[in-house]
Amino acid sequence: MVKIAPSLLACDFAELKQEVTRVKESGADILHFDVMDGQFVPNISIGLPILESLRKVTDMMIDTHLMIENPEQMIDAFCEAGSDMVSVHFEATPHIHRAIQQIKAHHKLAGVVINPGTPVESLSQILGDVDFVLIMTVNPGFGGQSFIESTLSKITWLDEYRNEHDLNFEIEVDGGVNEETGALCKAQGADILVAGSYYFKHEDYKEPVHKLKGD
Ligand code: DX5
Ligand code: ZN
Repeated sequence: MVKIAPSLLACDFAELKQEVTRVKESGADILHFDVMDGQFVPNISIGLPILESLRKVTDMMIDTHLMIENPEQMIDAFCEAGSDMVSVHFEATPHIHRAIQQIKAHHKLAGVVINPGTPVESLSQILGDVDFVLIMTVNPGFGGQSFIESTLSKITWLDEYRNEHDLNFEIEVDGGVNEETGALCKAQGADILVAGSYYFKHEDYKEPVHKLKGD
């Protein structure tokens, strides 16, 4: 069964505690927490103080997506602030292997992320070390963008690769996910669907969970 990870970027931050309670009650599986530094991506979002506050009010899995330069400088802090999963962009560091080991040293699930323009084959040397791979299906930096269809073949490639090599990393997708594009990702083998604007635009948050899970 596919897991649903609402991206808090699209929630009402003035009502954060209530939003998180509603997300949990909706049957979603993971909270996706987008960190942007205004350097790696042309936008600034949320960071450590919000993560620490959030950790105190929820027992849901928190999936921290680091869209920042020099991620090694901040990995320890984001692990200690309460993340359960942490992902680092392949494009953000020349030392992706070391960054992944740094996350694992905190006993957190470690993920590598790639932008739409990065070939998925670049990941082959690291796939044996990661717990999950995050495929960006839009260019990171903003919510509410349209899904880039050419990224679907990356999911297919990863699904085949893990079967052939007997690996069990999960495949997560992020950006422009709605009922239609989510179904396409699932069909290619995606395990976790991140959804921001599509999820939070609903009055009743159970609705997008049912639609994305297809039940
Ligand atoms: C984009 C972020 C996403 C974003 C997704 O840079 O990584 O997590 O919030 O938003 P939607 O689902 O609206 O594309
Ligand atoms: Zn994200």
